[in-house]
Amino acid sequence: MLQDQAYHLRRLSNTLKPGKEKHSRVVTIASGKGGVGKSNFTLNFALSLMEFGQKVVVIDLDIGMANLDILMGAAPKANLMDMIRERKSIWSVLEKGPLGLEYLAGGSGFHSLFQMTGEERDYFFEELGKLHGYADVILIDTGAGLTIEAQRCHLAADDIILITTPEPTSMADAYSVVKILHSQKKSLSFHLLVNRVSHQREGMEAAGKFKMAVQSFLNKELKIFGAMPDDSHVTKSVLKQVPFYLEYPRSPASAMLKKLAERFVNGIPDQQESGGIKGFIRSLSKLLH
Ligand SMILES: Nc1ncnc2c1ncn2[C@@H]1O[C@H](COP(=O)(O)OP(=O)(O)O)[C@@H](O)[C@H]1O
Ligand SMILES: [Mg+2]
Repeated sequence: MLQDQAYHLRRLSNTLKPGKEKHSRVVTIASGKGGVGKSNFTLNFALSLMEFGQKVVVIDLDIGMANLDILMGAAPKANLMDMIRERKSIWSVLEKGPLGLEYLAGGSGFHSLFQMTGEERDYFFEELGKLHGYADVILIDTGAGLTIEAQRCHLAADDIILITTPEPTSMADAYSVVKILHSQKKSLSFHLLVNRVSHQREGMEAAGKFKMAVQSFLNKELKIFGAMPDDSHVTKSVLKQVPFYLEYPRSPASAMLKKLAERFVNGIPDQQESGGIKGFIRSLSKLLH
Protein backbone atom coordinates (compact mmCIF):
# COMPACT_ATOMS: atom_id res chain seq x y z
CA MET A 1 0.00 0.00 0.00
CA LEU A 2 2.72 2.41 1.06
CA GLN A 3 4.77 1.36 -1.91
CA ASP A 4 1.72 1.94 -4.07
CA GLN A 5 1.42 5.48 -2.74
CA ALA A 6 5.10 6.16 -3.22
CA TYR A 7 4.79 5.19 -6.86
CA HIS A 8 1.79 7.44 -7.26
CA LEU A 9 3.63 10.36 -5.72
CA ARG A 10 6.69 9.85 -7.86
CA ARG A 11 4.59 9.55 -10.93
CA LEU A 12 2.72 12.68 -10.00
CA SER A 13 5.91 14.62 -9.49
CA ASN A 14 7.09 13.36 -12.86
CA THR A 15 4.01 14.61 -14.60
CA LEU A 16 4.06 17.90 -12.75
CA LYS A 17 7.50 18.96 -13.92
CA PRO A 18 6.97 21.07 -17.02
CA GLY A 19 8.99 19.99 -20.03
CA LYS A 20 10.11 16.86 -18.23
CA GLU A 21 7.74 14.52 -20.04
CA LYS A 22 9.54 11.26 -20.75
CA HIS A 23 9.64 9.52 -24.11
CA SER A 24 8.45 6.14 -22.81
CA ARG A 25 10.01 4.59 -25.88
CA VAL A 26 8.94 0.96 -26.32
CA VAL A 27 11.75 -1.38 -27.36
CA THR A 28 11.10 -5.08 -27.91
CA ILE A 29 13.84 -7.71 -27.93
CA ALA A 30 13.45 -10.26 -30.71
CA SER A 31 15.19 -13.37 -31.98
CA GLY A 32 14.48 -16.29 -34.25
CA LYS A 33 16.00 -19.05 -32.18
CA GLY A 34 15.75 -19.21 -28.40
CA GLY A 35 18.82 -19.30 -26.19
CA VAL A 36 20.67 -16.57 -28.11
CA GLY A 37 20.95 -14.30 -25.06
CA LYS A 38 17.79 -12.18 -25.22
CA SER A 39 16.94 -12.23 -21.53
CA ASN A 40 20.52 -11.67 -20.40
CA PHE A 41 20.80 -8.78 -22.80
CA THR A 42 17.49 -7.25 -21.70
CA LEU A 43 18.34 -7.31 -18.02
CA ASN A 44 21.92 -6.08 -18.30
CA PHE A 45 21.15 -3.53 -20.99
CA ALA A 46 18.45 -2.10 -18.72
CA LEU A 47 21.00 -1.73 -15.91
CA SER A 48 23.46 -0.07 -18.25
CA LEU A 49 20.83 2.35 -19.57
CA MET A 50 20.08 3.28 -15.95
CA GLU A 51 23.73 4.20 -15.49
CA PHE A 52 23.28 6.62 -18.35
CA GLY A 53 20.48 8.29 -16.47
CA GLN A 54 17.61 6.57 -18.22
CA LYS A 55 14.51 5.58 -16.31
CA VAL A 56 13.85 2.02 -17.45
CA VAL A 57 10.96 -0.37 -16.94
CA VAL A 58 11.40 -3.98 -18.09
CA ILE A 59 8.40 -6.08 -18.96
CA ASP A 60 8.78 -9.84 -19.17
CA LEU A 61 6.31 -11.03 -21.76
CA ASP A 62 7.78 -14.52 -21.82
CA ILE A 63 4.69 -15.70 -19.97
CA GLY A 64 5.11 -19.00 -18.19
CA MET A 65 8.91 -18.75 -18.10
CA ALA A 66 10.22 -16.87 -15.10
CA ASN A 67 13.38 -15.99 -16.97
CA LEU A 68 14.25 -12.51 -15.83
CA ASP A 69 13.46 -13.29 -12.18
CA ILE A 70 15.88 -16.19 -12.18
CA LEU A 71 18.62 -14.14 -13.83
CA MET A 72 18.49 -11.63 -10.98
CA GLY A 73 17.80 -14.19 -8.25
CA ALA A 74 14.48 -12.56 -7.45
CA ALA A 75 11.19 -14.02 -6.32
CA PRO A 76 8.57 -11.52 -7.42
CA LYS A 77 5.56 -11.10 -5.12
CA ALA A 78 3.23 -10.27 -7.94
CA ASN A 79 3.24 -10.37 -11.71
CA LEU A 80 1.53 -9.26 -14.86
CA MET A 81 -1.06 -12.01 -14.65
CA ASP A 82 -1.93 -11.12 -11.02
CA MET A 83 -2.33 -7.54 -12.16
CA ILE A 84 -4.82 -8.54 -14.82
CA ARG A 85 -6.74 -11.19 -12.90
CA GLU A 86 -6.90 -9.40 -9.58
CA ARG A 87 -7.29 -5.95 -11.10
CA LYS A 88 -4.19 -4.69 -9.29
CA SER A 89 -2.64 -1.38 -10.20
CA ILE A 90 0.56 -1.50 -12.23
CA TRP A 91 2.32 0.45 -9.45
CA SER A 92 1.64 -2.34 -6.98
CA VAL A 93 2.99 -5.10 -9.20
CA LEU A 94 6.12 -3.36 -10.50
CA GLU A 95 8.97 -5.13 -8.74
CA LYS A 96 12.31 -3.63 -7.77
CA GLY A 97 15.41 -5.41 -9.00
CA PRO A 98 19.12 -4.59 -8.64
CA LEU A 99 20.01 -0.86 -8.72
CA GLY A 100 16.29 -0.26 -8.24
CA LEU A 101 15.48 -1.52 -11.73
CA GLU A 102 11.72 -1.68 -12.09
CA TYR A 103 10.29 -4.69 -13.82
CA LEU A 104 7.02 -6.40 -14.39
CA ALA A 105 7.36 -10.16 -14.02
CA GLY A 106 5.57 -12.36 -16.53
CA GLY A 107 3.86 -14.93 -14.39
CA SER A 108 1.82 -17.72 -15.84
CA GLY A 109 -1.76 -18.78 -16.17
CA PHE A 110 -2.71 -17.87 -19.68
CA HIS A 111 -1.25 -19.82 -22.56
CA SER A 112 -1.04 -16.52 -24.28
CA LEU A 113 -1.51 -12.95 -23.27
CA PHE A 114 -4.05 -12.74 -26.03
CA GLN A 115 -6.36 -15.32 -24.56
CA MET A 116 -7.62 -12.64 -22.23
CA THR A 117 -11.22 -11.59 -22.29
CA GLY A 118 -12.00 -8.19 -23.78
CA GLU A 119 -12.44 -6.79 -20.31
CA GLU A 120 -9.09 -8.15 -19.12
CA ARG A 121 -7.39 -6.78 -22.19
CA ASP A 122 -8.87 -3.33 -21.61
CA TYR A 123 -7.64 -3.42 -18.04
CA PHE A 124 -4.17 -4.53 -19.14
CA PHE A 125 -3.94 -1.68 -21.64
CA GLU A 126 -5.25 0.83 -19.14
CA GLU A 127 -2.60 -0.10 -16.58
CA LEU A 128 0.18 -0.28 -19.18
CA GLY A 129 -0.83 3.17 -20.38
CA LYS A 130 0.02 4.56 -16.94
CA LEU A 131 3.70 4.11 -17.82
CA HIS A 132 3.35 6.98 -20.27
CA GLY A 133 5.64 9.77 -19.14
CA TYR A 134 7.00 7.60 -16.31
CA ALA A 135 9.83 5.77 -18.05
CA ASP A 136 12.29 6.86 -20.72
CA VAL A 137 12.58 3.35 -22.08
CA ILE A 138 10.30 0.35 -21.74
CA LEU A 139 12.15 -2.83 -22.64
CA ILE A 140 10.02 -5.85 -23.49
CA ASP A 141 11.58 -9.30 -23.41
CA THR A 142 9.73 -11.93 -25.40
CA GLY A 143 9.90 -15.72 -25.49
CA ALA A 144 11.66 -17.96 -27.99
CA GLY A 145 10.44 -17.99 -31.55
CA LEU A 146 8.08 -15.65 -33.28
CA THR A 147 4.79 -16.39 -31.57
CA ILE A 148 1.73 -14.42 -32.66
CA GLU A 149 1.90 -12.60 -29.35
CA ALA A 150 5.53 -11.59 -29.80
CA GLN A 151 4.86 -10.61 -33.42
CA ARG A 152 2.15 -8.20 -32.36
CA CYS A 153 4.39 -6.63 -29.75
CA HIS A 154 7.20 -6.15 -32.28
CA LEU A 155 4.79 -4.65 -34.80
CA ALA A 156 3.58 -2.16 -32.20
CA ALA A 157 7.01 -1.18 -30.81
CA ASP A 158 9.11 1.90 -31.58
CA ASP A 159 12.27 -0.17 -31.99
CA ILE A 160 13.12 -3.85 -32.28
CA ILE A 161 16.50 -5.09 -31.10
CA LEU A 162 17.04 -8.29 -33.04
CA ILE A 163 19.50 -10.69 -31.47
CA THR A 164 21.28 -13.52 -33.23
CA THR A 165 24.47 -15.47 -32.73
CA PRO A 166 26.92 -15.73 -35.67
CA GLU A 167 25.79 -19.32 -36.33
CA PRO A 168 24.19 -19.68 -39.76
CA THR A 169 21.06 -21.34 -38.30
CA SER A 170 20.52 -18.49 -35.87
CA MET A 171 21.15 -15.91 -38.63
CA ALA A 172 18.69 -17.67 -40.94
CA ASP A 173 16.02 -17.65 -38.24
CA ALA A 174 16.66 -13.98 -37.50
CA TYR A 175 16.33 -13.23 -41.21
CA SER A 176 12.93 -14.98 -41.19
CA VAL A 177 11.85 -12.75 -38.33
CA VAL A 178 12.69 -9.63 -40.35
CA LYS A 179 10.96 -11.05 -43.41
CA ILE A 180 7.75 -11.95 -41.57
CA LEU A 181 7.51 -8.69 -39.65
CA HIS A 182 8.49 -6.54 -42.63
CA SER A 183 5.78 -8.19 -44.74
CA GLN A 184 3.26 -6.89 -42.22
CA LYS A 185 4.65 -3.42 -41.62
CA LYS A 186 7.19 -1.58 -43.72
CA SER A 187 8.23 1.13 -41.26
CA LEU A 188 9.71 -1.06 -38.53
CA SER A 189 12.98 0.01 -36.97
CA PHE A 190 15.32 -2.97 -36.60
CA HIS A 191 18.63 -2.85 -34.72
CA LEU A 192 20.75 -5.95 -35.24
CA LEU A 193 22.91 -7.28 -32.41
CA VAL A 194 25.19 -10.24 -33.02
CA ASN A 195 25.78 -11.95 -29.69
CA ARG A 196 28.52 -14.37 -28.62
CA VAL A 197 31.12 -13.44 -31.19
CA SER A 198 34.75 -14.60 -30.87
CA HIS A 199 36.08 -11.37 -32.36
CA GLN A 200 34.49 -8.00 -33.01
CA ARG A 201 35.51 -8.27 -36.65
CA GLU A 202 33.73 -11.59 -37.06
CA GLY A 203 30.58 -10.12 -35.54
CA MET A 204 30.60 -6.97 -37.62
CA GLU A 205 31.23 -8.95 -40.81
CA ALA A 206 28.29 -11.22 -40.05
CA ALA A 207 26.14 -8.17 -39.27
CA GLY A 208 27.22 -6.53 -42.54
CA LYS A 209 26.24 -9.60 -44.56
CA PHE A 210 22.90 -9.76 -42.79
CA LYS A 211 22.24 -6.10 -43.49
CA MET A 212 23.11 -6.59 -47.18
CA ALA A 213 20.77 -9.59 -47.49
CA VAL A 214 17.90 -7.65 -45.89
CA GLN A 215 18.67 -4.70 -48.15
CA SER A 216 18.81 -6.63 -51.40
CA PHE A 217 16.10 -9.25 -50.86
CA LEU A 218 13.61 -7.28 -48.79
CA ASN A 219 14.57 -3.77 -49.83
CA LYS A 220 14.63 -2.86 -46.17
CA GLU A 221 17.12 -0.70 -44.29
CA LEU A 222 18.32 -2.33 -41.06
CA LYS A 223 20.61 -0.72 -38.52
CA ILE A 224 23.60 -2.57 -37.11
CA PHE A 225 23.57 -2.12 -33.36
CA GLY A 226 26.78 -3.99 -32.63
CA ALA A 227 28.41 -7.26 -31.62
CA MET A 228 28.67 -8.70 -28.11
CA PRO A 229 31.62 -10.93 -27.22
CA ASP A 230 31.19 -14.50 -26.17
CA ASP A 231 32.20 -14.09 -22.55
CA SER A 232 32.37 -16.76 -19.84
CA HIS A 233 31.45 -14.09 -17.25
CA VAL A 234 27.92 -14.18 -18.68
CA THR A 235 27.55 -17.89 -17.97
CA LYS A 236 29.17 -17.50 -14.55
CA SER A 237 26.74 -14.78 -13.57
CA VAL A 238 23.77 -16.82 -14.79
CA LEU A 239 24.87 -19.60 -12.44
CA LYS A 240 25.23 -17.09 -9.59
CA GLN A 241 21.88 -15.50 -10.48
CA VAL A 242 23.31 -12.01 -10.57
CA PRO A 243 23.46 -9.74 -13.63
CA PHE A 244 26.92 -9.85 -15.25
CA TYR A 245 26.89 -6.08 -15.63
CA LEU A 246 26.96 -5.69 -11.85
CA GLU A 247 29.00 -8.75 -10.90
CA TYR A 248 31.68 -8.35 -13.56
CA PRO A 249 31.59 -4.67 -14.57
CA ARG A 250 35.00 -4.86 -16.23
CA SER A 251 34.29 -8.01 -18.23
CA PRO A 252 34.37 -7.77 -22.04
CA ALA A 253 30.59 -8.27 -22.18
CA SER A 254 29.96 -5.42 -19.71
CA ALA A 255 32.36 -3.10 -21.53
CA MET A 256 30.56 -3.69 -24.82
CA LEU A 257 27.15 -3.32 -23.20
CA LYS A 258 28.17 0.09 -21.89
CA LYS A 259 29.12 1.16 -25.41
CA LEU A 260 25.79 -0.11 -26.73
CA ALA A 261 23.84 1.72 -24.04
CA GLU A 262 25.68 4.93 -24.80
CA ARG A 263 25.03 4.46 -28.51
CA PHE A 264 21.38 3.83 -27.82
CA VAL A 265 20.93 6.84 -25.55
CA ASN A 266 22.68 9.16 -28.00
CA GLY A 267 20.63 7.77 -30.85
CA ILE A 268 17.20 8.29 -29.29
CA PRO A 269 15.35 10.52 -31.71
CA ASP A 270 12.98 13.32 -30.78
CA GLN A 271 9.89 12.50 -28.83
CA GLN A 272 7.68 13.26 -31.81
CA GLU A 273 9.11 10.29 -33.66
CA SER A 274 8.28 7.88 -30.87
CA GLY A 275 4.80 6.43 -30.50
CA GLY A 276 5.77 5.54 -26.94
CA ILE A 277 3.63 3.36 -24.72
CA LYS A 278 0.44 5.08 -25.91
CA GLY A 279 1.30 4.33 -29.54
CA PHE A 280 2.23 0.79 -28.56
CA ILE A 281 -1.15 0.21 -26.93
CA ARG A 282 -3.00 1.81 -29.84
CA SER A 283 -1.22 -0.42 -32.38
CA LEU A 284 -1.54 -3.52 -30.23
CA SER A 285 -5.27 -3.09 -29.71
CA LYS A 286 -5.76 -2.58 -33.46
CA LEU A 287 -3.86 -5.82 -34.12
CA LEU A 288 -6.12 -7.67 -31.72
CA HIS A 289 -9.36 -6.79 -33.48
N1 LIG B 1 27.54 -12.92 -24.54
C1 LIG B 1 27.47 -14.16 -24.04
N2 LIG B 1 28.59 -14.87 -23.76
C2 LIG B 1 28.53 -16.12 -23.27
N3 LIG B 1 27.39 -16.77 -23.02
C3 LIG B 1 26.24 -16.15 -23.27
C4 LIG B 1 26.20 -14.82 -23.79
N4 LIG B 1 24.90 -14.45 -23.94
C5 LIG B 1 24.17 -15.51 -23.54
N5 LIG B 1 24.95 -16.54 -23.14
C6 LIG B 1 24.53 -17.87 -22.65
O1 LIG B 1 23.32 -18.23 -23.29
C7 LIG B 1 22.37 -18.66 -22.34
C8 LIG B 1 20.98 -18.28 -22.78
O2 LIG B 1 20.80 -16.90 -22.62
P1 LIG B 1 19.35 -16.25 -22.44
O3 LIG B 1 19.57 -14.82 -22.20
O4 LIG B 1 18.56 -16.99 -21.43
O5 LIG B 1 18.75 -16.52 -23.90
P2 LIG B 1 17.26 -16.28 -24.45
O6 LIG B 1 16.56 -15.35 -23.54
O7 LIG B 1 17.46 -15.76 -25.83
O8 LIG B 1 16.62 -17.64 -24.47
C9 LIG B 1 22.80 -18.03 -21.03
O9 LIG B 1 22.42 -18.80 -19.95
C10 LIG B 1 24.30 -17.91 -21.15
O10 LIG B 1 24.90 -19.08 -20.65
MG1 LIG C 1 14.68 -15.54 -22.55
